[in-house]
Amino acid sequence: MKILVTGASGHLGANLVRRLLDDGQSVRVLLREGSNNTAVEGLDVERVYGDLRDFTGMKAAVRGCDRIYHCAAKVSTLDGDPLLKREIYDCNVLGTLHILQAALEAGVSKKVVVSGSFSAVGHNPEKPSDETVPFYPFSPHLPYGFTKSFVEHECLKAVANGLNVVVAVSCAIIGPHDYKPSRMGRTLLDFANGKLPAYVPGGFEFVAARDIVEGHILAMSKGRSGQKYIFSSQFLTVDELMDIFEEVTGRDRPNLRIPGAMMTGIAGVADFVLPRFFPNVPRRFTSGAVRILRMHRRADISKAKNELGYQPTSIKASIQSAYDDFIGRGLIASVGK
Ligand SMILES: NC(=O)c1ccc[n+]([C@@H]2O[C@H](COP(=O)([O-])OP(=O)(O)OC[C@H]3O[C@@H](n4cnc5c(N)ncnc54)[C@H](OP(=O)(O)O)[C@@H]3O)[C@@H](O)[C@H]2O)c1
Repeated sequence: MKILVTGASGHLGANLVRRLLDDGQSVRVLLREGSNNTAVEGLDVERVYGDLRDFTGMKAAVRGCDRIYHCAAKVSTLDGDPLLKREIYDCNVLGTLHILQAALEAGVSKKVVVSGSFSAVGHNPEKPSDETVPFYPFSPHLPYGFTKSFVEHECLKAVANGLNVVVAVSCAIIGPHDYKPSRMGRTLLDFANGKLPAYVPGGFEFVAARDIVEGHILAMSKGRSGQKYIFSSQFLTVDELMDIFEEVTGRDRPNLRIPGAMMTGIAGVADFVLPRFFPNVPRRFTSGAVRILRMHRRADISKAKNELGYQPTSIKASIQSAYDDFIGRGLIASVGK
């Protein structure tokens, strides 16, 4: 049985592929020529090259695979110009359509697990959100959030056409094998290297890389077609996250704790100025990221626990393992006190 993993060069994909190989599975990965594909270097996998936006390429990628983990997506916290919006839409919505359509046409006895995002789950300030809370399109969302909602729509269309599809919803991932690195990985790296200038209070649901991988495996083995399942490890405030970073790295947090309302203003100015005048400056606090942190969104993961037997582990252990991995790769200059 051959398993296709899209997005294998990304953070989730890198962890998922390792788990599948550890489980003795035969894995094909979808990569893009010219991308940073360090994540799969030295792994015993079959490599196919292609872009989600190219349907013909996706038909070739899917051919002969019985199971597909569609993890690839254009992840972005930018509000974006029309070109970026188009890229996010094409990669995420059309890309998912292509993978699902290719699977249908191949007549796969296939099952497809598609990575979803908590940003496409509705927000109820009164209680933690579960899978039943619909996405509310009239509050501010990032283009990425909209597309992840439309991705679910594509999944349901494919289910209506007879494909077995399950959505595995991820919260903010933290953990090892983060080769790009991700937004959370960069924050940990900067913290450990004493280069994080400030932080913004807020809170979010975080998921350990090994937990979201386990969630995908459970969704594949036990998930019901047409259903989505939310996987989180723990809700943390940013202050609690800083506590863990201090313990793991031995360094102190930045002195500057910028209140959320003030940061919203600063990020708004940066959103206007940076893309126009300093397009190469890395963006840490975009308006979208600050907005999400200030919402203190919580997840109810009862469905994944009850139906799939999902048992989250520890975010602290995952941060430790991300840190150890960065140290091992020489990305942290000196160990703290
Ligand atoms: N990271 C999080 O905290 C988080 C939270 C919620 C949901 N998720 C979801 O989890 C999944 C994995 O996220 P991640 O953190 O692993 O993202 P990531 O590290 O940014 O990796 C994204 C992957 O998608 C691939 N990709 C993007 N556009 C592509 C295209 N047009 N054709 C082929 N491949 C393409 C990238 O390949 P290249 O290397 O070629 O660019 C990369 O392998 C995504 O579906 C994301 O929406 C992630």
